[in-house]
Amino acid sequence: MNNHNTLEELREKLFETARGIQKRAYVPYSSFRVGAAIWADNNEVFSGCNVENISYPCGTCAEAGAIAAMIAGGGKKIREILITADGQSLITPCGACLQRIKEFSDENTLIHLSDKTGIKQTLTIKDLLPLAFDDEELHK
Ligand code: THU
Repeated sequence: MNNHNTLEELREKLFETARGIQKRAYVPYSSFRVGAAIWADNNEVFSGCNVENISYPCGTCAEAGAIAAMIAGGGKKIREILITADGQSLITPCGACLQRIKEFSDENTLIHLSDKTGIKQTLTIKDLLPLAFDDEELHK
């Protein structure tokens, strides 16, 4: 990503990246493929897909994979994250992933929800997790 990319081009890249990695989801139990792509503060794009497990609680969401890739790749904050799936209705991140997203977000972070055709809704973490746990004491 460089400064010449418009936000529109950037969101197209997030969409294409998320749709691309969604195909790689490992979903033998749910058959529900999810992809996520993050534009991070270091201007790079990171992505993840859901990876299920025969011991169901061990499965990981696409958002968790994308956040892990961001941290491993040197990103520190989420500027924008796009989540995509193929269901009838748009999906929002699960409760645990909202908390994960919150950890690396601020009030300017945008959360794009997409279906197979493109972004359908854009929200903030405050919209999705309005009374999030965030104890100032623990930051010290
Ligand atoms: N899933 C995600 O990867 N992200 C979400 O935002 C919602 C759910 C995954 C978990 C599981 O592999 C499958 O979708 C069905 O719940």
